[in-house]
Amino acid sequence: MKKTVNDFRKMKETGEKISFITSYDYMTAKFAEQSEIDMILVGDSLGNVLLGYESTIPVSMDEMIIHARAVRRGAPNTFIVGDMPFMSYQISDELAIKNAGRFIKEANCDCIKLEGADSRILDRIRAITGIGILAMGHIGLTPQFAAKLGGCKAQGKSLEAAKVLLEQAKAVEQAGAFSILVEGVPAIVGKLISDNISIPVLGIGAGSFVDGQLLIYADMLGMYEDFTPKFVKKYAQIGEEIKRAFTQYNQEVKKGIFPVDSEYSYKIKEEEAKKIKELYFTK
Ligand code: KIV
Repeated sequence: MKKTVNDFRKMKETGEKISFITSYDYMTAKFAEQSEIDMILVGDSLGNVLLGYESTIPVSMDEMIIHARAVRRGAPNTFIVGDMPFMSYQISDELAIKNAGRFIKEANCDCIKLEGADSRILDRIRAITGIGILAMGHIGLTPQFAAKLGGCKAQGKSLEAAKVLLEQAKAVEQAGAFSILVEGVPAIVGKLISDNISIPVLGIGAGSFVDGQLLIYADMLGMYEDFTPKFVKKYAQIGEEIKRAFTQYNQEVKKGIFPVDSEYSYKIKEEEAKKIKELYFTK
């Protein structure tokens, strides 16, 4: 059964960890739901992972909607988070509401996620949640702000930086977010944040003390080879397996080993095959 905001609140209270994974398509969404993962993020990381962009910056709302709809078809009973791409919410409250609404209306997502915690973003969270759409905040290593952060690197590595993150998390909670994703911080900073706000704290590279864990499926399955962050545990080597299978297929096609007709071709009645042979192949 699909989990709700109340379930996630209770999980934080009781210490039951929330499992969270990205998905961008029907197939992996189905696998996630069959594996009883609590929450799916249709992340703008699909820009890197699926579309081959150098960053998440070029990802458009229309691309996000196509993928979010596919994920919903694959996971009808899982809580789905639609990730607001760059420039879909920064400009104005109206634009943010319009695009958050698209995730809900067009893709049947349960909530949206947006990066940052400066006053502008806090206004957006207030605007979106004010009309009844659930919002998840995202602080720490926020890829859409990579230029400002000096690259995609760990955050909160000093007392001062940890204090700033804690204040940001509190502000995001106050603005009305029902949960917050914290990315790329030392475990003690994840704990500091989780212990000091009441909404669930999901972590990606934020250590073990937070209320739930997110991984990008293509990282944890060993499929995305361009870059692997330190916090990724590889649960499978699907990329290696795909390369092995593609190589074998390539060789078998070239050598005429595949297909073996008795096994992989459609059957035809003997008398029909005979007629075709007599007409076309016996001259
Ligand atoms: O887009 C995404 O998958 C994300 C994670 C990297 C946190 O936002």
